[in-house]
Amino acid sequence: MSVPAILRLGSVKDVSRFAEHLRALQLQIPCDSEIVRAADSPLLAPLERGEIKIGNRIAVNPMEGWDGTADGRPTENTLRRWRRFGQSGAKLIWGGEAVAVSHGGRANPNQLAVAEQTRAGLAQLREALIAEHKQAAGSDAGLLVGLQLTHSGRYCKPNSQRRAEPRILYRHPILDRRLGLPPDFPVLTDGEIAGIVEEFHRAARTAWELGFDFVDIKHCHGYLGHEFLSAHTREGKYGGSFENRTRFLREVVQGIREAAPRLKIGVRFSAFDSVPFHPDPAQSGNGKLGPGIPEPHADLLPYRWGFGVNASDPTEPDLAEPIRLLALLESLHIVLVNVTAGSPYYSPHIQRPALYPPSDGYQPPEDPLVGVARQMEAARELKRRFPNLIFVGTAYSYLQDFLPQVAQAAVRENWVDAVGMGRMILTYPEIFLDAVQGRAVQHKRICRTFSDCTTAPRNGLPSGCYPLDSHYKNSAMAVQLSALKKRARPGTPNEH
Ligand SMILES: Cc1cc2nc3c(=O)[nH]c(=O)nc-3n(C[C@H](O)[C@H](O)[C@H](O)COP(=O)(O)O)c2cc1C
Ligand code: SF4
Repeated sequence: MSVPAILRLGSVKDVSRFAEHLRALQLQIPCDSEIVRAADSPLLAPLERGEIKIGNRIAVNPMEGWDGTADGRPTENTLRRWRRFGQSGAKLIWGGEAVAVSHGGRANPNQLAVAEQTRAGLAQLREALIAEHKQAAGSDAGLLVGLQLTHSGRYCKPNSQRRAEPRILYRHPILDRRLGLPPDFPVLTDGEIAGIVEEFHRAARTAWELGFDFVDIKHCHGYLGHEFLSAHTREGKYGGSFENRTRFLREVVQGIREAAPRLKIGVRFSAFDSVPFHPDPAQSGNGKLGPGIPEPHADLLPYRWGFGVNASDPTEPDLAEPIRLLALLESLHIVLVNVTAGSPYYSPHIQRPALYPPSDGYQPPEDPLVGVARQMEAARELKRRFPNLIFVGTAYSYLQDFLPQVAQAAVRENWVDAVGMGRMILTYPEIFLDAVQGRAVQHKRICRTFSDCTTAPRNGLPSGCYPLDSHYKNSAMAVQLSALKKRARPGTPNEH
C-alpha cells in the first residue's frame, strides 16, 4: 500500500489554505475563518446539565507522564504537568491522567496509583491545578476536576519496564501473539474480577475524599475496561452478550454510588476500534518503519475481538454497540462522556493521529487529518443521538495552528460540547486562551506530532514534550532519548 504525500501542516500559512486542503482531501472537518473574541466566544460559553456546571468548552484530556514513584506517588514532573493543565484555563479537567486502582493494575512502573501512601500527593495535584487555574481564568467557578481510574488489564507492567504482567479477559488471536502469551496463559477469573470491581469502589471513595468532582471509569485504549466491551468470546457472566460485557461497568457504577453517593461519574471510551496494525514488512528495513497495514485477519471473520468494529471488515467502525453503551450510560444517569478511539499499542494512527510515528509504531497509513475527521465524525454522530449527554471530543492536536478555528466551529455547530486537548497541552497549554483573548497564536509552541512523548515512555523514560518544552528539551532525559532514537531510527514519513 503506498501512501500519498502528506502535506505538513506547519507549512500552511493561513486558515483559507487549510480549509482548501480539507476540501482537497474531501474531509468534513468544520473550521471557522475567524476566532470570536472573549465574551462572545463559543469556546467560553458555559455549559449546564442538571447538577453539572462547566464554565467553558475547553477540556484537558488525560495525559499520563510515566513519572510517578515506584509506589505510585506523583513527583515534581507530575506536579508541573498538572499546574500546566490549570494554566490552560480549561474548565473541564477530564481525569488528569490514568491513575491505577491498585499497584498490580499499573501500565508502567511509574504510573500513579490510588493507595494510602499516595493520598497526599493526589490531593496536592488537584490543589496545584486549581491554584494555577485561578491565576489563568480569574476564578475557579465552573471548574470540574476529575480523576481517571484505570486498570491496565492486558497492558499491566507494574513493577519493571522489562516485565509485562498482563491480566487478560479472553484469548485474542492477534494480541496474544504480539504479547508472546502462551496458549495456556490464564484469563482473569470471575472472582478476580469481583476484586478489581471493589478496587474501583475504594479508589472512587478516595477520589471523593480528596475533593475530586468526578471519576472517569476508563473504558478505552485496550485497557481492562475496554477489553470487557469486546469480550465476545469470554465464557460466563462477564462475556458474550452485551449485557454481560457491560456487567463490569454496571457493578463499578453501583458500588461507587454506594461508596460516594455525590461523586459524579464519567466514562471515556474507545467509540470504535480496529484490527491491530503493524508496519508493512515489505516497506520496512534499515531501521525504517513501513506504513501501517492491518494484521492479516481473513481467517478471523466474522471478527469477534473488537468493540465498535464492523465484524465483516474490522478495519471499519460500526457504532451500533457504542450507541447501546451510551443508552446504558444514560439509563445509569451518567452524563459525562469522552469519545476516543482505538489503542496506542496497536492502532496509534487511529488513536492519536500523527505525522511522525512513535518508536514502536509505523508510518502513517493515511493523512493524519483522516484520523482526526474519523474521531470527530463519530463524536458528532453520537452527540446527535444523545443530545442530553455532555460530549468531550478527542484527537484535535494534529490540527496544529488551526486547532482554535476547528474547535470553535465544532462547538458552535454542536458536534461536541467541549474540545479536549491531549498532546497540545504538553507543549502549549494556553493556546485557546491566547486565541480567544486576541493574542497571536505562538507558532513555535504548536505540537507538531513528533511522538517523542510516546517514544520516551516506550523506552522507559518519562513522557513530556522533548522537542518543544524547554523543561525536557534541555534535560539529561533528552540526551538519553536522542541516543535511543539514533539506535532505532524510524525514518521520516512521506511528506511534502
Ligand atoms: C503521552 C500521552 C499520554 C497519554 N495518557 C493518557 C491517559 O493517561 N489516559 C487516557 O485516557 N489517554 C491518554 N492519552 C491519550 C490522549 O488523552 C488523547 O486521547 C490522544 O493524545 C489524542 O488526542 P490529541 O490529538 O489531543 O493528542 C495519552 C496520550 C499521550 C500522547
Ligand atoms: S513530543 Fe511534543 S510535539 Fe511531539 S507529539 Fe508530543 S507534545 Fe507533540
